[in-house]
Amino acid sequence: MKSSNCRPATESQSSDKASTGSPAFPGKAADQKNLLRSRFKRPRFAEVEAFSASLPFDRRLYRQDIRGSAAHARMLQSVGLLNSREAKAIQAGLREIEREIEAGQFRFDIADEDIHLAIERRLTEKIGAAGAKLHTARSRNDQVALDLRLYLRDEIKELLSLLAALVQALAKLARDHTETVMPGYTHLQRAQPISLAHHLLAYIEMFKRDRERLEQTRARTDVMPLGAGAIAATTLPIDRKAVARELGFRQMSANSIDAVGDRDFVLDFLSAAAILAVHLSRMAEEIILWSTEEFGFVELPDEFSTGSSMMPQKKNPDLLELIRAKSGRICGNLAAMLVVMKGLPLGYNSDLQEDKERVFDTLDTLKPILSLMAQLWPRITFRTEAMAAAAGGFCLATDLAEYLVTRGVPFRDAHEAIGRLVKELSAAKRSLSEVTLGELQKVSPAFGPEVLKMLTPEQSLRRRRVVGGPAPETVRRQLAQLCRKSDPWLEKS
Ligand code: ARG
Repeated sequence: MKSSNCRPATESQSSDKASTGSPAFPGKAADQKNLLRSRFKRPRFAEVEAFSASLPFDRRLYRQDIRGSAAHARMLQSVGLLNSREAKAIQAGLREIEREIEAGQFRFDIADEDIHLAIERRLTEKIGAAGAKLHTARSRNDQVALDLRLYLRDEIKELLSLLAALVQALAKLARDHTETVMPGYTHLQRAQPISLAHHLLAYIEMFKRDRERLEQTRARTDVMPLGAGAIAATTLPIDRKAVARELGFRQMSANSIDAVGDRDFVLDFLSAAAILAVHLSRMAEEIILWSTEEFGFVELPDEFSTGSSMMPQKKNPDLLELIRAKSGRICGNLAAMLVVMKGLPLGYNSDLQEDKERVFDTLDTLKPILSLMAQLWPRITFRTEAMAAAAGGFCLATDLAEYLVTRGVPFRDAHEAIGRLVKELSAAKRSLSEVTLGELQKVSPAFGPEVLKMLTPEQSLRRRRVVGGPAPETVRRQLAQLCRKSDPWLEKS
């Protein structure tokens, strides 16, 4: 096996000198630069090393890792496990390492396995013996749980603000379209008149629930695991509260086994993200449908549309199709992580290392979708005449039946009578809007002349005033409530 196949180019030039020369590691062999291998006779197969390393992806956690280490070191000093000179050297070293990584000068070496060991190795290279004290009363098991919790806490905040921007765009549009009638669909068949605003508010309701789920996930992520050590905490007199306080955690883990073996917060996140992605996929699908010639409800902006390589006339909604499809991979990330967790014994297992790529991929997929959707909606052209035309005709059949109910006709009988009328009219290729009072009175003598005035989608909409209904005044009230001052989420809209 040729090690060079699996190792990055920088590996062979890694600055081993500093650590082998360090007084902290007097007898360290050159091929044993991995900090953990003193109990082994031989180095790992390079292929094993490359397969097992998380460094290629968990480098992304470097800021959280450094933040966590800085807090840990301050605590170690406060309980007397580091003297002030050591603590100072650690803080300065960590700051330098952060700068090196940010400037692209840090040499990532796959032999370090992960970001935790990479940073610790570099710190010890830089400051010697004091660096070797940083990992006191800590394991990578509680360290990685901490890093991921810190990372997700911030990322969920970012997701929530992207989601808020989308909801604001929808609310703004809804305000302009409380009177824009369109058909509501059931079974994708025209059903009853609704308004565009009412339809958009349905999405806002879905996103409000997404927001709740993300906030709950954030609260469950906001638990400080450091101090759990590898599984059974530590015999050393650490101060977990101080670390939690410094890192801004609301809670501390209450059980060291759970602290290192739990990834419920990851499952919560992936699941909240999957549901949100499914909502966005449904939204994408509806815009695609509406943009077809068959529906003709909307025209997509050129900036968001694609041409065809063969058919010059085409204006394709590729972006929306991809948004629809990407929900598949976000749901896949949840499924993958559920399967990783299933059957794992408690405590840390390396299987848990698989969590990070699922989280990163979900975030990298979801964030641009939210941002693109928020920019797309205000640029869509609505064909309001086509929408109104589609909301007339038989969409008003239920209104007729309900009119009869107000005249004392039992609903089942009214339903049956209007059903017969629909059958006759459709056989004659006529629509409900063409029906005369005489014809209606033949269906039921209970019909009075005022019924004809009701037979427009606009009237139908106006009369659906029940709470949660599509009447413009009801929807306006709902919009006002949504944007009330006490809810900072939508304050800006
Ligand atoms: N790279 C590991 C992960 O991503 C960090 C924890 C490793 N702990 C261990 N005992 N191997 O989960």
